[in-house]
Amino acid sequence: MHRTDSAGLPAAAPAAPAWWRGAAIYQVYVRSFADGNGDGIGDLAGVRAHLPYLAELGVDALWFNPWYASPMADGGYDVADYRRIDPAFGTLAEAEKLIAEALDLGIRTIVDIVPNHVSQAHAWFVQALAAGPGSAARARFWFRDGRGEHGELPPNAWPSQFGGAAWTRVTEPDGTPGQWYLHRFAPEQPDLNWENPQVRQEHEEVLRFWFDRGAAGVRIDSAAEVVKDPALPDFTPDRDPHPYLDRDGVHDIYRSWRRLADSYPQPRALIGEVWLPDPARFARYLRPDELHTAFNFGFLACPWDAERLREAIGTTLAAHAPVGAPATWVLANHDITRTVTRYGRADTAFDFATKRFGIATDLALGTRRARAAALLTLALPGSVYLYQGEELGLPEVEDIPADRIEDPMHHRTGGRDPGRDGCRVPLPWSGSTAPYGFSPTEIEPWLPQPTDWARYSVAAQDQASDSMLTLYRTALHLRRTEPALGDGPMNWLKSDPQVLAFTRGTEFSCLVNLSDTPAPLPADSVVLLTSAPLDEDLLPPDTAVWLRTV
Ligand code: GLC
Ligand code: CA
Repeated sequence: MHRTDSAGLPAAAPAAPAWWRGAAIYQVYVRSFADGNGDGIGDLAGVRAHLPYLAELGVDALWFNPWYASPMADGGYDVADYRRIDPAFGTLAEAEKLIAEALDLGIRTIVDIVPNHVSQAHAWFVQALAAGPGSAARARFWFRDGRGEHGELPPNAWPSQFGGAAWTRVTEPDGTPGQWYLHRFAPEQPDLNWENPQVRQEHEEVLRFWFDRGAAGVRIDSAAEVVKDPALPDFTPDRDPHPYLDRDGVHDIYRSWRRLADSYPQPRALIGEVWLPDPARFARYLRPDELHTAFNFGFLACPWDAERLREAIGTTLAAHAPVGAPATWVLANHDITRTVTRYGRADTAFDFATKRFGIATDLALGTRRARAAALLTLALPGSVYLYQGEELGLPEVEDIPADRIEDPMHHRTGGRDPGRDGCRVPLPWSGSTAPYGFSPTEIEPWLPQPTDWARYSVAAQDQASDSMLTLYRTALHLRRTEPALGDGPMNWLKSDPQVLAFTRGTEFSCLVNLSDTPAPLPADSVVLLTSAPLDEDLLPPDTAVWLRTV
């Protein structure tokens, strides 16, 4: 059966390349994008008001972090109701308008689905608590009796990703200390039991709900983690298969979602958040009857080092080739230290385990490298993700007062981990002082903005030829008009090992100099775009260039 596209998504012409294979996708963290109603919190009205900005930037789609009703214990990744928009963000009617208005500007919408868990405030969890042990309502989650004489110990030793144990004990309806429930993230995010048919059915209905409203795709949160070993054994490093990561059963779920996505005249795209160290295991999610694409975290975590980047790019392309899926390229998202900060440090790799406050940063160097990385990323084959504020070169904010930090990752590690709020600070749009046009003057945004952010504002960068915003705009427009960019093959050019050099098609090439001396450009080439001025006709260190080769 074919469904009609209620929001008028164009039906795919049979021979047209699928949009998701080469799209530039902009990630909107709604809470921090723009505040339309003046309460200090970003909202859908704010996004709608700035759609022309996004169209001018030149992106093909928007991915919205969860915008559903939520107590915001984890920035909305604790969903209380998928069919309602959080009142702080707006209404369902506004979301429908936003999807339609974006599409009028040629921009598709991707929504975020969080299958691993729901909020404590979700009706199912409220019912599970009330219904008591052994109930059908509890069978949708992982409720277990505790170990120890009085059930006072958690059922197993699984850790939470946010620190501490992955189990919390509940008080039963009669007031006695009771069972424990599993939460691989915060206690406010109880894990769902995907062995339960209702859990599967409900998520497919949620997918239909958003696809019917014109969503062109979904980003699937923690996609490799949803299936657990029902015996809930303790984790030991040599245990194979892993009790809660990348279990084979997960693929059936996504095959079923793929059939659903393909049943639309304009097939919807499935995009996985899949963090797996083994590229071959990663690629299994991208088999032709499963997900369309998945985030490439190996590239994101890679240090600013030519050999390592060359290897990460090669590994990525080799892993994707056998399954026929396009690669994705990502430098930043709402969980990761901002690129200009990360690249300005002695250790330029990203690793959750080593995030700390107070690491020395050379922002000028980091920004120079981030500009070069932008041209590298936008020239690689496949689709690309930009995280709001990346196009402004925003740095990580590292001095948010402790009592304003909301991220559970900070609090559940006893403050050792800085948390992720530093990359979620509200965007500066205009003006010389906070809130920089994010909210009306005098309104304080939900997270404080630095006092020196005027220079990063959209207004300050708009007309400046050397700004990060101008670089991104120019590169995104060229990426659209250069037929060889986006999806397609690439070939490495012979080069100094410290210079990344590759062609796209027969006439376009990209060079990135990661050495500390200027590098020559190929003969007979015309410069299309550089991340920093050339040094005579040499490519300076930490600089990238796009060339027309003739
Ligand atoms: C994903 C999200 C992250 C969230 C977690 C739990 O990793 O990107 O922000 O905290 O899942 O839902
Ligand atoms: Ca608001």
